[in-house]
Parts: sequence; C-alpha cells; structure tokens
Amino acid sequence: MENKRCVCIGVSGGIAAYKALDIVSALRKKDIDVRVIMTESATKFVAPLTFQSLSQNMVTTDMFAEPKAFEIQHISLAKRADVFLVAPATANIIGKVANGIADDMLSTTIMATKAKVIFAPAMNTNMYENKIVQSNIEKLKGLGYEFIEPASGRLACGDEGRGKLADVNTIVEKVLDALESKDIPKDLLGKKVLISAGPTYSNIDPVRFITNKSTGKMGYYIAEEARDRGADVTLVSGPTNLKPPSGVKVINITTNEEMKEAIFENYDDSDIVIKSAAVADYKIKNYSNDKIKKGDGDLVLTFVRDNDILKLLGEKKTNQILVGFAAESTNISENARRKLENKNLDYIVANDITSSDTGFGSDDNKVVIFTKDGEEINLDKMSKRKVASKIFDTILRKR
Ligand code: CTP
Repeated sequence: MENKRCVCIGVSGGIAAYKALDIVSALRKKDIDVRVIMTESATKFVAPLTFQSLSQNMVTTDMFAEPKAFEIQHISLAKRADVFLVAPATANIIGKVANGIADDMLSTTIMATKAKVIFAPAMNTNMYENKIVQSNIEKLKGLGYEFIEPASGRLACGDEGRGKLADVNTIVEKVLDALESKDIPKDLLGKKVLISAGPTYSNIDPVRFITNKSTGKMGYYIAEEARDRGADVTLVSGPTNLKPPSGVKVINITTNEEMKEAIFENYDDSDIVIKSAAVADYKIKNYSNDKIKKGDGDLVLTFVRDNDILKLLGEKKTNQILVGFAAESTNISENARRKLENKNLDYIVANDITSSDTGFGSDDNKVVIFTKDGEEINLDKMSKRKVASKIFDTILRKR
C-alpha cells in the first residue's frame, strides 16, 4: 500500500471512539491507506481488532511492543502519513500536544509528523469550554493545527451542549480536502486575494426582492484554491447556501451597494481581485419601506442602473491583477473581449450559461479565459475547483 495516499488516525479514549470506525471505513472505501494508532484508554472503548479489520492494517497502541519489521514505528508512521487525524480528540491528547508532551505512541507520532494534523474534539461540554482546553486549542490553531468544531446536542454523560464529535461525513470531507490540498503548490504565499461570489438582491420592499440564479459555487472554489495555494483570502459573498470556507475571511452582503463597499474597503492592499459574483445591474427606483399591498390593476416597478462594481475597480486599478467573469448566452468571445476592454481587466473568464451541465448551480464549468494581450485559452469541461486552479495557473503563467 506504499503508493497510496495515507491517513493516520489517532483514536483517543472517549465514548465517541466507536464513531472513528465509520471514518476508517469511509476512507478505506476511497482507497486510502488508513493506519490507526489508539491510546491505551481508547482500547477500553473499542477493541483494536475492530480497527484492524476495518483498516486492514495492524493497529498500534504500545510504543514498546515487539515491532513486526525493523522500523522505529512512531517515526515511520509519522513520515508515511499524508494527513493526520485525531478523532475523537480528548482534552488529554489536545493538552499533551499543545504542551509538547510525548509519552505514548500517539503523542510521539504527532510530535514527529510533518503532515497536516487535524483534531476532531469530543468531550463533556464543561471540559470543552474549560479555559485551559480552549487556550490549548487556540495555541495549537496558532501553530497551524486544524480543528473540526464539535457539534452540540445530548452528550453521553446526559448533559446538553457542545462537545459531540462532529458529523462523520464532515470529518471525512475535511480529511479528503486536506489530502487534496497537500500537493498544491504554495505559489500565492504572501499574496492578498479578494474574491466576490454569489448573487446580490435588489430589494423591492421589506419582504420582496429580485435576484438571479447564481449559487456562488465558482467563487467559493476560487477562494478555497487561493487559500490552499497560501494566499490571504477575503471572500465577499452574496446570499448562498454554501458553507463558509475555513481559513478564509468571509464578508456577507446582500445588495450591490453593500458588495461595492466591502470590495472597496479591501481593494487597495489586494494583489489579485477576482469578481465572480453575479451582481444585479439594476435597483428599484422607489424602495417601499412598507410591504406593498396588492391592488386590482397591474403592478409596474421601475428599476434604475446600479453600480458596475467591476468597472469602478478597473478605473481605480493600480497594481492589482483584475479578473472578471462574463456570463454569456450569445457571441461569447465578442462580448467577453468587450467587457475586458471596457472594464480595464487583465483577464476575463467567460462561460456559456445556456449549457445545462455547466454554469449556474453545476459542479462543472466550461470556460474560455481571455487575456488583455489578446490570448484566448479554451479549457475543456472540468470541475469548478479545477477551473479555479487553471485561473491561478494562468495568472501565475504556469500552463
Ligand atoms: N459586475 C459587477 N457589477 C455589476 C455587474 C457585473 O461588478 N453591476 C461584474 C461581475 O462580477 C463579472 C463581470 O462584471 O465579473 C461581468 O458581469 P456580466 O453580468 O456578465 O456583465 P455585465 O457587465 O453586467 O454585462 P451584461 O449584463 O450586459 O452582459
């Protein structure tokens, strides 16, 4: 299994240890080599043999057990791991790692690994909220360790509150993301990237508005890609159903005006600005503070032009690389080039919104990137995350 991606799972002693079995099994289904290390107390909750059977690997608990092959086990596992997950993570293991204590197989291996370490804490609410535990967590976060927040609910001890191990699917997703981002070059380190995503609302009265079909997916993937490449990312987002990406500063807005304000507040010190939002071009002429009552005749609403944010950015551009999107249904190339020029952009990413399996709401996209030097890069249909990666490759000139 040496060529496979490897996830090392540290299971520490809590009632949620049995849930780690589902994590092992989900990762094995993705053809990932899973190595389990259990603490002594974890073995009181679940037998090592169960983890052994599911992972199809020997389970390590004892540092001083006779090794099966000549290798110093905590070092070889530490090197082999692409990602290290501790689930459930007790207050004890968090405290040990935060304070440099390495006195068993799990804590020594965590100490020796260079892989990303993710903790999924699970414990009694009062323990979780204890200031010492929280300060250990903050310290570890500051050192680059990641945490998957525990959920709230009824705990094994009967208490209600925060401390339940996060949902297994959320944990698995996070591990898969970490595996994926591991090989991404950190070529945006030190760069500030500002992204807009999602739709905006044109409010009509306190309960009504018009908007568009943007789901925000493309912009959120761009934000994740920039983050994984090492950038300092700010995402200005219209209303979406998407989870805010971790490690990204998200500013939620609703209207064109609010988006403009948030973007301009962050514009001056940004290096790259990518506007993937579907911004409303019109706002209602006379907003009604009261809910509009129905009448017998037709309802006629008048809309007036609102800010073209991207155009304003183009006018104020200094050293920023400015990237726009063009959602088109006809004359893609002509329209995209016109927008590139009119809005003083460096790049424009054009997509054909008439295609049903790409564009709005879809996970895939098929785009053409136009550059200000007249180049045209036609990309095949690919996942939106991959499109995000190609956009940065183009900006950084690696194709
Ligand atoms: N954009 C913007 N402000 C607007 C409208 C669009 O900042 N009021 C930005 C979008 O975020 C996108 C680009 O401009 O990056 C192109 O958006 P699109 O709607 O395709 O183009 P428009 O310029 O609005 O032209 P049209 O609607 O006539 O196609």
